[in-house]
Amino acid sequence: MKKRIEPEEDKIKRGLTRRQFLTTMGAGAAAVAVSGKQKARAAEDAAQVKSADEKTRVTLTLNGRRRRVMVEPRWSLLFVLRERLGMTGTKVGCERGECGACTVLINDVPRYACMTLAIEAEGTKVTTLEGLMKGEELGPVQQAFAEEDAFQCGYCTPGQIMAIEGLLRATPNPSSDQISAAMAGNLCRCGTYTHIFKAARRAAQLKQKAGGA
Ligand code: FES
Repeated sequence: MKKRIEPEEDKIKRGLTRRQFLTTMGAGAAAVAVSGKQKARAAEDAAQVKSADEKTRVTLTLNGRRRRVMVEPRWSLLFVLRERLGMTGTKVGCERGECGACTVLINDVPRYACMTLAIEAEGTKVTTLEGLMKGEELGPVQQAFAEEDAFQCGYCTPGQIMAIEGLLRATPNPSSDQISAAMAGNLCRCGTYTHIFKAARRAAQLKQKAGGA
């Protein structure tokens, strides 16, 4: 039987060629598949957004005292220390790991609290500026800063003190190079670096006098 060749007018009359029909159907099916994927992804995103808000409990030793605090996974240690635990001696500077104003000790090592998630502090020993005081008495590094007049505006001072505290806990009698290296991550806009260096040396003496306190 002879195959009927469909005249072009008939195709036009029907509005679509076979190729156009298949292409259109293909695009439609793809659109359905994409929209299905998009829906699945949107649901996943929604679930993630929900879980980002969910609080989780973090237990840490803060300045020698065991503390429990509910935190959102996205919260920085800086935020939790200041806004949830009242440790406002830890300062907010750049909040992007550049200035060092937020320096605290985690297990005796200086760390930027703005670049540390609160959940990372789980089970650690955190020391802030407040933890260097003995009642109303200044700690040796704080005392050294006062003696050497190692600040002007004072905003960066808590971070500077914590960086030196961390240095002296690891290296009780540091060389100038070791002080330079330890202080490299702490900026002072007033430029009191010479006095800060003197304070670091004085703090080492005071700590040794106090028996490594
Ligand atoms: Fe953390 Fe500046 S506030 S480094």
